[in-house]
Amino acid sequence: MNNKPRQTLVEGLIDHLRFQRECGDVTVELEPETVAALAACKKKPRTSPPAGKPRADGSATAAPVAPAPGRKPAAAAAALAEIAAAAAACRKCALCRERTTVVPGQGNASSPDVLFIGEAPGAEEDRQGLAFVGRAGQLLTKMIGAMGYTRDEIFIANICKCRPPNNRQPAVDEMAACLPFLKAQIAVIRPRVIVAMGNTAILGLLGSSGITRLRGIWSMFEGIPLMPTYHPAYLLRFPSVKREAWDDLKKVLKRLDRPVPAPDAKTGGEGSAP
Ligand code: URA
Repeated sequence: MNNKPRQTLVEGLIDHLRFQRECGDVTVELEPETVAALAACKKKPRTSPPAGKPRADGSATAAPVAPAPGRKPAAAAAALAEIAAAAAACRKCALCRERTTVVPGQGNASSPDVLFIGEAPGAEEDRQGLAFVGRAGQLLTKMIGAMGYTRDEIFIANICKCRPPNNRQPAVDEMAACLPFLKAQIAVIRPRVIVAMGNTAILGLLGSSGITRLRGIWSMFEGIPLMPTYHPAYLLRFPSVKREAWDDLKKVLKRLDRPVPAPDAKTGGEGSAP
């Protein structure tokens, strides 16, 4: 075997073991030689990008995010399929009893610029097995488009993979039961930036709530820059805060060193909020 397939195999094994650990299976017996071989092949941690110059807004930490090495799309898709299968078999909380379809999330699994994370599937998502395909999803599609991306270029997931009955907010223990799946997905996807949408997402990822206080302020999750912003469903109810959400998304584009879309010709103003 030449070195490349061996490296891919070992990386796959490491990911699998990490996933088992996330799922609570911590007793894997390995021969000392295997441990040594794994240690020798272990990927180097992602190096931090050089610190950017302080910006006009004083956000010295807002250095552009270096692209992650990114695994091959087929390997990422296979790893995600394994996680989705484990989520489909999960019985750790009561949500599995009433949902129709597990919704793992979808999109570009190979180091996309952005991973959007919402709360949990709604009725339409539960029916189709896809994240954000209902009314909130239509607005999210517009937000993604306004940023200059298509849905296929980024990844969309939720804190919980199963629909809570009557679209109620997931309980803390339900979020905790599902978080290992999301963490395993993040380890595979390696997004450059995470956008956490709404209170449930920030509670699940950062352990604190208060979207109006936390939105627009950079944070970190699993070593990845995280921007909290409003949930699209909230924006549908309160369109007056769309401008703030757009400000948050512009910060994301800046951090990714991507152009902020040009002023809208119709409004004549700054790139208009979707
Ligand atoms: N709301 C969410 O948080 N996620 C979805 O997938 C759909 C609606």
